Amino acid sequence: MINYKDLGLVNTKEMFKKAMEGGYAIPAFNFNNMEQLQAIVKAAVETKSPVILQVSKGARQYANQTLLRYMAEGAVAYAKELGCKNPEIVLHLDHGDSFETCKSCIDMGFSSVMIDGSHLPYEENVALTKKVVDYAHQFDVTVEGELGVLAGVEDEVSSDHHTYTDPAEVVDFVTKTGCDSLAISIGTSHGAFKFTPEQCHVDPATGRLVPPPLAFDVLDGVMKELPGFPIVLHGSSSVPQEEVEIINANGGALKAAIGIPEEELRKAAKSSVCKINIDSDSRLAMTAAIRKVFAEKPAEFDPRKYLGPARDNMEKLYKEKIINVLGSNDKLED
Ligand code: G3H
Ligand code: 13P
Ligand code: ZN
Repeated sequence: MINYKDLGLVNTKEMFKKAMEGGYAIPAFNFNNMEQLQAIVKAAVETKSPVILQVSKGARQYANQTLLRYMAEGAVAYAKELGCKNPEIVLHLDHGDSFETCKSCIDMGFSSVMIDGSHLPYEENVALTKKVVDYAHQFDVTVEGELGVLAGVEDEVSSDHHTYTDPAEVVDFVTKTGCDSLAISIGTSHGAFKFTPEQCHVDPATGRLVPPPLAFDVLDGVMKELPGFPIVLHGSSSVPQEEVEIINANGGALKAAIGIPEEELRKAAKSSVCKINIDSDSRLAMTAAIRKVFAEKPAEFDPRKYLGPARDNMEKLYKEKIINVLGSNDKLED
């Protein structure tokens, strides 16, 4: 049993309390490899932002969960080496699919876990979430639950339409489970294809597609029922069109990739939404930079020559999110 506190990590409790009071949200960035992790840590240190490092089931399979745990421990040391005296870094399991997966992560040093029972019948979701909370809280590990279903692929369960969170259920769910934060469904979804062109209208000024708005009435309903309780938004990539255009101009084939407009996320970050999940935008930034090097320098075969620019492009993206969207910059103690 490894306790996250011995690794220099923190749980989400204080972080979310401060985010709620300060009207900003904590970035939750997924990572699968060293370059993503380096970019996240550098961006967080240089903007003085707390940060949540997210590990999905796919990431655990791809990179090995033991290695990922040591990388997170290394992230704390790296942040200090970069000059950050008091880094606030959470190691979080994204979309935990069973009690066993959550327990395994808690036992190896994760400071926060999500148990995603959103696809289960309500009472089963309550029972599973409570079981994880009862175990996690013994070690001061925080737990994120979920109510409502996001469209797209979520934890290998595919749904082609949203089931928005029902505000009438949230008090019962949080009281019965004891979870520390709640992921809700208000129209975001996973991946880079969040809306079909038919669901959007064309902005006459830019010629770009504008998706339908998020269901802020549902968020308002949840906040009325659970005042001051930390809310989480999954599927919050904005799918920067500049990156999509670079990908497509350099041999890619991403058709009608559409994300959540940043204005909507800025508005959410000022509310009870304390954690905003972003993964796809980092994938796009990485791919765009790599494709550009491959197209411009076809003779290049040193991975550092394309992974380096990819890392720089991701760092730029993370900083932009922290400063211009989430507002979590300048929040660390000196
Ligand atoms: O929730 C989805 C995240 O973007 C993780 O994606 O399961 O492909 O690693 P992944
Ligand atoms: P995106 O696919 O919009 O980046 O969402 C990521 C996410 O919610 C991870 O849990
Ligand atoms: Zn998610």
